[in-house]
Amino acid sequence: MLWFAHRGVSDRFPENTLEAIAAAIEDDVDGVEFDVHFSKDGVGVIIHDETVNRTTNGTGRVIDMTVAELQALDAGARFKGEPIKTKIPTLDEVLAILAPATLRLNIELKTDTIRYDGLEAYVLERCAAHGIATDRLLFSSFNHYSVALIQKLDPRVETAILYPYPIYHPEEQALRIGATGIHPDYRRVTEADVAFAHAQDVTVRVYTPKTVEDVRQMQRIGVDAVIVNDPKGMRDTFEG
Ligand code: G3P
Ligand code: MG
Repeated sequence: MLWFAHRGVSDRFPENTLEAIAAAIEDDVDGVEFDVHFSKDGVGVIIHDETVNRTTNGTGRVIDMTVAELQALDAGARFKGEPIKTKIPTLDEVLAILAPATLRLNIELKTDTIRYDGLEAYVLERCAAHGIATDRLLFSSFNHYSVALIQKLDPRVETAILYPYPIYHPEEQALRIGATGIHPDYRRVTEADVAFAHAQDVTVRVYTPKTVEDVRQMQRIGVDAVIVNDPKGMRDTFEG
Protein backbone atom coordinates (compact mmCIF):
# COMPACT_ATOMS: atom_id res chain seq x y z
CA MET A 1 0.00 0.00 0.00
CA LEU A 2 1.31 3.44 -0.96
CA TRP A 3 1.24 6.61 1.13
CA PHE A 4 0.40 10.02 -0.36
CA ALA A 5 0.56 13.34 1.47
CA HIS A 6 -2.77 15.21 1.33
CA ARG A 7 -2.34 18.92 0.49
CA GLY A 8 1.34 18.25 1.30
CA VAL A 9 2.09 17.17 4.86
CA SER A 10 -0.83 19.29 6.02
CA ASP A 11 -0.84 18.11 9.64
CA ARG A 12 2.60 19.63 10.26
CA PHE A 13 2.61 22.58 7.84
CA PRO A 14 -0.07 24.87 6.39
CA GLU A 15 -1.86 22.93 3.67
CA ASN A 16 -0.87 23.36 0.01
CA THR A 17 2.24 25.44 0.80
CA LEU A 18 5.85 24.96 -0.32
CA GLU A 19 6.72 23.91 3.25
CA ALA A 20 4.04 21.20 3.27
CA ILE A 21 5.12 19.91 -0.14
CA ALA A 22 8.84 20.02 0.72
CA ALA A 23 8.02 17.96 3.84
CA ALA A 24 6.53 15.22 1.65
CA ILE A 25 9.83 15.02 -0.25
CA GLU A 26 11.80 15.09 3.01
CA ASP A 27 9.60 12.36 4.53
CA ASP A 28 10.26 10.13 1.52
CA VAL A 29 6.60 9.27 0.96
CA ASP A 30 5.24 7.79 -2.25
CA GLY A 31 3.35 10.79 -3.55
CA VAL A 32 1.99 14.23 -2.82
CA GLU A 33 -1.49 15.54 -3.55
CA PHE A 34 -2.22 19.25 -4.04
CA ASP A 35 -5.00 21.39 -5.49
CA VAL A 36 -4.75 23.82 -8.41
CA HIS A 37 -6.87 26.85 -9.41
CA PHE A 38 -6.36 29.80 -11.77
CA SER A 39 -5.69 33.34 -10.53
CA LYS A 40 -7.43 36.29 -12.21
CA ASP A 41 -4.42 36.73 -14.49
CA GLY A 42 -4.33 33.07 -15.52
CA VAL A 43 -1.55 31.72 -13.30
CA GLY A 44 -1.90 28.28 -11.71
CA VAL A 45 -1.97 28.61 -7.92
CA ILE A 46 -2.01 25.96 -5.21
CA ILE A 47 -4.86 26.34 -2.73
CA HIS A 48 -7.80 24.15 -1.77
CA ASP A 49 -10.86 26.40 -1.64
CA GLU A 50 -12.33 28.69 -4.28
CA THR A 51 -11.79 31.53 -1.79
CA VAL A 52 -8.80 32.53 0.33
CA ASN A 53 -10.96 33.00 3.45
CA ARG A 54 -10.35 29.73 5.34
CA THR A 55 -6.59 29.39 4.92
CA THR A 56 -5.18 32.96 4.68
CA ASN A 57 -5.49 36.39 6.29
CA GLY A 58 -7.41 37.67 3.24
CA THR A 59 -10.90 37.40 1.85
CA GLY A 60 -12.27 36.92 -1.64
CA ARG A 61 -12.30 34.49 -4.54
CA VAL A 62 -9.05 33.16 -5.99
CA ILE A 63 -10.31 33.82 -9.54
CA ASP A 64 -10.93 37.49 -8.68
CA MET A 65 -7.36 38.13 -7.47
CA THR A 66 -4.11 38.46 -9.42
CA VAL A 67 -1.22 36.22 -8.55
CA ALA A 68 0.54 39.24 -6.96
CA GLU A 69 -2.50 39.89 -4.75
CA LEU A 70 -2.73 36.22 -3.81
CA GLN A 71 0.97 35.96 -2.98
CA ALA A 72 0.80 39.03 -0.73
CA LEU A 73 -1.43 37.03 1.63
CA ASP A 74 -0.20 34.90 4.52
CA ALA A 75 -1.13 31.29 3.82
CA GLY A 76 0.04 30.29 7.31
CA ALA A 77 -2.24 32.76 9.07
CA ARG A 78 -4.88 30.24 10.07
CA PHE A 79 -2.71 27.17 10.58
CA LYS A 80 -3.54 25.39 13.84
CA GLY A 81 0.04 24.20 14.51
CA GLU A 82 3.38 25.99 14.98
CA PRO A 83 2.95 29.52 13.53
CA ILE A 84 4.62 29.99 10.17
CA LYS A 85 4.46 32.83 7.69
CA THR A 86 4.24 31.59 4.13
CA LYS A 87 2.47 32.29 0.86
CA ILE A 88 0.11 30.68 -1.60
CA PRO A 89 2.52 29.01 -4.04
CA THR A 90 2.20 29.07 -7.78
CA LEU A 91 2.10 25.78 -9.66
CA ASP A 92 5.51 26.69 -11.10
CA GLU A 93 7.03 27.12 -7.65
CA VAL A 94 5.72 23.74 -6.56
CA LEU A 95 6.87 21.99 -9.74
CA ALA A 96 10.34 23.53 -9.33
CA ILE A 97 10.84 21.87 -5.94
CA LEU A 98 9.25 18.59 -7.06
CA ALA A 99 11.17 18.28 -10.35
CA PRO A 100 14.42 16.92 -8.84
CA ALA A 101 12.57 14.51 -6.51
CA THR A 102 11.12 11.11 -7.40
CA LEU A 103 7.77 10.94 -5.61
CA ARG A 104 4.53 11.03 -7.61
CA LEU A 105 2.48 14.18 -8.10
CA ASN A 106 -1.27 13.86 -7.64
CA ILE A 107 -2.49 17.14 -9.06
CA GLU A 108 -6.14 17.76 -8.27
CA LEU A 109 -7.87 20.02 -10.81
CA LYS A 110 -10.25 22.15 -8.75
CA THR A 111 -12.68 22.67 -11.58
CA ASP A 112 -15.56 21.56 -9.37
CA THR A 113 -17.59 24.76 -9.28
CA ILE A 114 -15.61 27.23 -11.41
CA ARG A 115 -14.81 26.06 -14.95
CA TYR A 116 -11.26 27.49 -15.19
CA ASP A 117 -11.22 27.04 -18.97
CA GLY A 118 -7.83 25.87 -20.20
CA LEU A 119 -6.57 24.68 -16.80
CA GLU A 120 -6.01 21.11 -18.01
CA ALA A 121 -3.80 22.14 -20.97
CA TYR A 122 -2.01 24.72 -18.83
CA VAL A 123 -1.10 22.19 -16.12
CA LEU A 124 0.19 19.68 -18.68
CA GLU A 125 2.28 22.37 -20.33
CA ARG A 126 3.81 23.54 -17.04
CA CYS A 127 4.65 19.96 -15.99
CA ALA A 128 6.38 19.40 -19.34
CA ALA A 129 8.24 22.73 -19.01
CA HIS A 130 9.64 21.56 -15.66
CA GLY A 131 10.66 18.22 -17.18
CA ILE A 132 8.43 16.16 -14.87
CA ALA A 133 8.36 12.61 -16.24
CA THR A 134 4.92 11.56 -17.43
CA ASP A 135 4.91 8.45 -15.23
CA ARG A 136 5.13 10.65 -12.12
CA LEU A 137 1.91 12.46 -13.04
CA LEU A 138 -1.49 11.53 -11.66
CA PHE A 139 -4.40 13.89 -12.27
CA SER A 140 -7.70 13.76 -10.45
CA SER A 141 -10.83 15.84 -10.12
CA PHE A 142 -14.35 15.75 -8.73
CA ASN A 143 -15.22 17.16 -12.17
CA HIS A 144 -15.05 14.06 -14.32
CA TYR A 145 -15.26 16.12 -17.51
CA SER A 146 -11.97 17.65 -16.46
CA VAL A 147 -10.49 14.17 -15.95
CA ALA A 148 -11.71 13.09 -19.40
CA LEU A 149 -10.28 16.22 -20.98
CA ILE A 150 -6.79 15.97 -19.50
CA GLN A 151 -6.68 12.27 -20.36
CA LYS A 152 -7.58 13.12 -23.95
CA LEU A 153 -5.01 15.93 -24.13
CA ASP A 154 -2.24 13.57 -23.02
CA PRO A 155 -3.14 9.87 -23.12
CA ARG A 156 0.20 9.00 -21.47
CA VAL A 157 -0.70 10.46 -18.07
CA GLU A 158 -2.57 8.57 -15.38
CA THR A 159 -5.92 9.93 -14.25
CA ALA A 160 -8.49 9.12 -11.58
CA ILE A 161 -12.01 10.16 -10.70
CA LEU A 162 -12.69 11.64 -7.28
CA TYR A 163 -16.07 11.15 -5.61
CA PRO A 164 -17.36 11.95 -2.12
CA TYR A 165 -20.37 9.60 -2.08
CA PRO A 166 -21.07 6.04 -3.28
CA ILE A 167 -21.54 5.78 -7.03
CA TYR A 168 -22.60 2.85 -9.17
CA HIS A 169 -19.62 0.80 -10.36
CA PRO A 170 -17.08 3.63 -10.14
CA GLU A 171 -14.47 1.55 -11.98
CA GLU A 172 -16.78 1.43 -15.03
CA GLN A 173 -17.30 5.18 -14.88
CA ALA A 174 -13.54 5.71 -14.71
CA LEU A 175 -12.72 3.35 -17.57
CA ARG A 176 -15.41 4.87 -19.76
CA ILE A 177 -13.55 8.19 -19.77
CA GLY A 178 -10.09 6.67 -20.04
CA ALA A 179 -9.18 6.97 -16.35
CA THR A 180 -7.53 4.04 -14.60
CA GLY A 181 -7.97 5.11 -10.99
CA ILE A 182 -10.76 5.78 -8.51
CA HIS A 183 -10.22 8.13 -5.55
CA PRO A 184 -13.21 7.76 -3.20
CA ASP A 185 -13.77 9.24 0.23
CA TYR A 186 -12.49 6.42 2.48
CA ARG A 187 -15.84 6.28 4.32
CA ARG A 188 -17.62 5.42 1.08
CA VAL A 189 -15.49 2.60 -0.32
CA THR A 190 -16.40 -1.07 0.08
CA GLU A 191 -14.46 -4.29 -0.30
CA ALA A 192 -16.63 -5.06 -3.35
CA ASP A 193 -15.71 -1.72 -4.95
CA VAL A 194 -12.02 -2.58 -4.55
CA ALA A 195 -12.51 -6.10 -5.93
CA PHE A 196 -14.44 -4.84 -8.98
CA ALA A 197 -11.79 -2.17 -9.56
CA HIS A 198 -8.90 -4.60 -9.33
CA ALA A 199 -10.62 -7.10 -11.63
CA GLN A 200 -10.37 -4.38 -14.29
CA ASP A 201 -6.88 -3.14 -13.32
CA VAL A 202 -8.27 0.05 -11.85
CA THR A 203 -6.25 1.50 -8.94
CA VAL A 204 -7.99 2.55 -5.71
CA ARG A 205 -6.56 5.43 -3.66
CA VAL A 206 -8.70 6.74 -0.81
CA TYR A 207 -8.79 10.17 0.79
CA THR A 208 -8.48 11.00 3.74
CA PRO A 209 -8.31 8.35 6.50
CA LYS A 210 -7.91 10.16 9.81
CA THR A 211 -6.54 7.46 12.14
CA VAL A 212 -4.20 4.49 11.92
CA GLU A 213 -7.23 2.26 12.55
CA ASP A 214 -8.93 3.82 9.50
CA VAL A 215 -5.82 2.98 7.48
CA ARG A 216 -5.82 -0.62 8.77
CA GLN A 217 -9.41 -0.97 7.61
CA MET A 218 -8.40 0.37 4.17
CA GLN A 219 -5.58 -2.15 4.01
CA ARG A 220 -7.97 -4.96 4.99
CA ILE A 221 -10.25 -4.19 2.06
CA GLY A 222 -7.25 -3.98 -0.26
CA VAL A 223 -6.91 -0.33 -1.35
CA ASP A 224 -3.72 0.54 -3.24
CA ALA A 225 -2.94 3.86 -1.58
CA VAL A 226 -4.05 6.21 1.17
CA ILE A 227 -3.95 9.99 0.83
CA VAL A 228 -3.40 11.29 4.37
CA ASN A 229 -2.37 14.43 6.24
CA ASP A 230 0.81 13.00 7.81
CA PRO A 231 1.86 9.95 5.80
CA LYS A 232 5.22 9.40 7.49
CA GLY A 233 3.86 9.80 11.02
CA MET A 234 0.98 7.44 10.28
CA ARG A 235 3.13 4.95 8.42
CA ASP A 236 5.61 4.79 11.32
CA THR A 237 2.80 3.99 13.78
CA PHE A 238 1.14 1.64 11.30
CA GLU A 239 4.30 -0.36 10.72
CA GLY A 240 5.74 0.04 14.22
O1 G3P B 1 -7.55 14.42 -3.90
C1 G3P B 1 -7.95 13.88 -2.68
C2 G3P B 1 -8.63 14.92 -1.83
O2 G3P B 1 -7.80 16.05 -1.74
C3 G3P B 1 -9.96 15.33 -2.36
O3 G3P B 1 -10.64 16.18 -1.51
O4 G3P B 1 -11.47 18.34 -0.77
O5 G3P B 1 -9.31 17.48 0.12
O6 G3P B 1 -9.44 18.28 -2.21
P1 G3P B 1 -10.18 17.62 -1.08
MG1 MG C 1 -7.47 17.76 -2.97
